[in-house]
Amino acid sequence: MQFPADFLWGTATSAYQTEGYNTNSDWWYWEKGKYPKSKRKAFIGETSGMACDSYNRYEEDFNFAKNMNNNAIRFSIEWARIEPRKGEWDQTEVEHYKKVIKAAKERGLKTFVTLHHFTKPIWFSKLGGWLNPFAPKWFANYAKKCAEEYSDYIDFFITLNEPQVYSLQAYWRATWTPKIKCKLFALISQLTQIKAHKKAYTAIKFVDNSAKVGLSKHIVRYERVTNDRGKASICTKLVCKVLHYLTTNFFLDPIKKHLDFIGLNYYFTAWMKNFKEKNPEMESSDLGWILYPEGLKHILLNLKKYNLPIYITEHGLADAWDQKRQWYINESLKFVYEAMESGVDVRGYLHWSLIDNFEWHIGFWPKFGLIEIDREHNLTRKPRPSFYMYSQICRTGKVE
Ligand code: BGC
Repeated sequence: MQFPADFLWGTATSAYQTEGYNTNSDWWYWEKGKYPKSKRKAFIGETSGMACDSYNRYEEDFNFAKNMNNNAIRFSIEWARIEPRKGEWDQTEVEHYKKVIKAAKERGLKTFVTLHHFTKPIWFSKLGGWLNPFAPKWFANYAKKCAEEYSDYIDFFITLNEPQVYSLQAYWRATWTPKIKCKLFALISQLTQIKAHKKAYTAIKFVDNSAKVGLSKHIVRYERVTNDRGKASICTKLVCKVLHYLTTNFFLDPIKKHLDFIGLNYYFTAWMKNFKEKNPEMESSDLGWILYPEGLKHILLNLKKYNLPIYITEHGLADAWDQKRQWYINESLKFVYEAMESGVDVRGYLHWSLIDNFEWHIGFWPKFGLIEIDREHNLTRKPRPSFYMYSQICRTGKVE
């Protein structure tokens, strides 16, 4: 299967998960036990600390991406570094990110730059974060600043990463700060981010009308559990329909006129039997997530209706021993190719992740990297076998 010559092949990371010492971010504040005060909401687990020290080692990381024959890369800017206090820009940090983005460009990498990947400035969270009706305005102000400073070097702006995942983790499951279990808040947080994306889109376009602006949307594939005769119950069918609507249309429909492309993050498929998840015995990752490459094709076919270019901005697995990664990448790409043959406009694939990194409340043990980070030995970067396999695909554009 030969992918088009201009297909983008790359890898993805985020700032908080790799940079280290993001001391003005709300997650850091939470890790340090400063917020919120109640014990029930306190941070438990591994803290991010120096992470992968990519704040200082970004050139080394980009060299690896280049040596892997990547022609694109995704990373994020930490909002809290640029705007540590409301309305105040830290010019040193603004310049730092200019150097980072330019370093990627100098290595021939198209840049997908995420403006917000889960973490926020402390001041923003203290004002209620995505529950505050003024949040879209504050976010758009920051997006405008980024466009003014960086639009010459950013090929693709990604406003938000997985807004629904954030809302559910913070307000539904209450595993992430501010850990408030409230379904109404989970909904408000999503609605505010819909507005925030639209406002940020307009703000970026105001500065640079030719900028390409999208967002990264996590989409889960829902399959029906069927009986021996291959039939699913009416309830199962209905549940799948509703879940499909919530994971796709609910967020994308209201913003479709404010999107130049769709960034798709795909990690798993869930099998539903009535209201319960009943997954079959299947290959899974170190985190127990089912590895179902075909799910990617179904999601891509569903996204065709938006008539927009699609970039897969995340796809990967936790696999410390690198036993399943090669198979998973290869099989998934075959399904991407099939979706393209059916007319879906997929233009790039960015594997999560370039390097092992801080997997949020779970800490450092899940290993998502094509490159291992040896935490015992000075965070040495060590390419895994799958690095070489993927580098071959990136070079030839061919999947067998
Ligand atoms: C997030 C990443 C995360 C990855 C693996 C995505 O939902 O954007 O930050 O590391 O999944 O869990």
